[in-house]
Amino acid sequence: MMDKTKIDNERPSALDPSSEEIRGWGSAAIEVVAAYLDSIRDRRVYPETSSKQIREKLDRALPGEGIGFERLLETFSDVLVPMSRHNGHPRMFGYVQAPGTAIAAIADLLASALNANLTAWRSAPAAVEVERLTIDWIKEIIGVDAGATGLFVSGGSMANLAALATARRAKAPADLTSRGAQFFPRAMRVYVSEETHHSVAKAAALLGIGRDNVRVVGVDECFKIRIGELVAKIEEDLEAGHLPFFVVASAGTVNTGAFDPLAEVSEVARRFNLWMHVDASYGGFAALAPSAKSLFDAMREADSVALDPHKWLYLPVDCGCVLYRDAEAARATFAHDAEYTRVLEQQPDEAFAFWDYGPELSRRFRALKVWMMLKGVGLRVLGEMIEKDLACARHLERLVRASEDFEMLAPVELSIFCFRHVPSGLKLALARANEAERARLNQKLDRLNERLLIALQQDGSSYLSNALLGGRFCLRGCVMNYRTTLRDMEILLDDLRRLAPVASRRDAT
Ligand SMILES: Cc1ncc(COP(=O)(O)O)c(C=O)c1O
Repeated sequence: MMDKTKIDNERPSALDPSSEEIRGWGSAAIEVVAAYLDSIRDRRVYPETSSKQIREKLDRALPGEGIGFERLLETFSDVLVPMSRHNGHPRMFGYVQAPGTAIAAIADLLASALNANLTAWRSAPAAVEVERLTIDWIKEIIGVDAGATGLFVSGGSMANLAALATARRAKAPADLTSRGAQFFPRAMRVYVSEETHHSVAKAAALLGIGRDNVRVVGVDECFKIRIGELVAKIEEDLEAGHLPFFVVASAGTVNTGAFDPLAEVSEVARRFNLWMHVDASYGGFAALAPSAKSLFDAMREADSVALDPHKWLYLPVDCGCVLYRDAEAARATFAHDAEYTRVLEQQPDEAFAFWDYGPELSRRFRALKVWMMLKGVGLRVLGEMIEKDLACARHLERLVRASEDFEMLAPVELSIFCFRHVPSGLKLALARANEAERARLNQKLDRLNERLLIALQQDGSSYLSNALLGGRFCLRGCVMNYRTTLRDMEILLDDLRRLAPVASRRDAT
């Protein structure tokens, strides 16, 4: 048993350090952050390491006694930093990856220090108001109805899931929530394009709608949903007695950045009484760039929108966002009575609870980094940076189209570019080949480009990921970084040219 004087007098310094200690830890950590961000351009994008090497560097024994903060920070600097992929590097073009920002990193520190839990207004009055304010700003940025509501969630996948759940509640008989999906005799049908992010199909499976009820509509040569085929599939399903209820338009697809025609999708949604969801997880904040703004004209028609401030607002993970045009539809989906969440005697503004609009109860203060970013940086600079990202992708497209040894495999619409290396000899052979010969040459190019991608990732100067378009393997990149310049796009092609002979040799062996 611990003696009572010990309990009363001893301050557990690791849990409750003095203000002096906190200042010491903070300055040392901020020094590490500043040095890291200062050095980011000169680092390899991807580390040369393995799972075994990292495990060996981490002291794996269960820590009975704690170690000092200095040693923790040392492990962060000497092990974690060098053995990480550097998402803030200007030539990190893989996936849809934001660099993060210093101001948002500091916002995360402040949010954790306050440790606000944004369940309801009464739990975190100021933080909830900041979230409501930033959600209003986001609505204005992308042009949705001022009466819409929304909240921050972990990411685009969760936003798509919340939107699908809400749409089902709105379009199915009301007792589906209490009786379960098995009591509704009609198959509820969801419509996506071949290029829609897989998180929608995953959400359909999780919600018991079923993957088989996700109808996949083909895309045109620009990788946008084919409206005629969408209508045909809906009519076919109606004929078969199913219930079409949800259609997804992508405001920037994950593979090529294609922006589905929102006005046409909304016309179909209205005609067949479908819920129109826009997945703007990748492309949503391109609304800040003057050259992309007109793509968003019909955004107002969306019943729900998924967004990812942790993508094109350059914020660190995690921060997704879901918006609903009809707040009541979301409330009907997520509100759940329980005595421990009942709000007692308050005005409507203060009786507000986020748990009524999304799947989570405890929620972090994600809004602080959104607020500090938007307010601290301002829309003018953010818009200029996003416009610059678009310009970088277009620059790469121009370079590729003018080259002898690369070709584009999709048009650039936003900041994603899909292309492949085609050695000049093969380019000529492809142009002259018959169908069978072309298929054989394409297979050879798939293998070669796969090798080239692996060589690039191992090399460390630039980083791309891959996509499959029309059965063809593509080198795929996405520019989403205020540090990236036109010159970085040229360095990327130089890197690929430097590594192409290595990839060809590996392909031959
Ligand atoms: C179009 C689209 N939707 C959804 C997602 C999923 O977002 P998250 O990774 O934040 O869950 C992504 C991720 O890249 C995306 O590009």
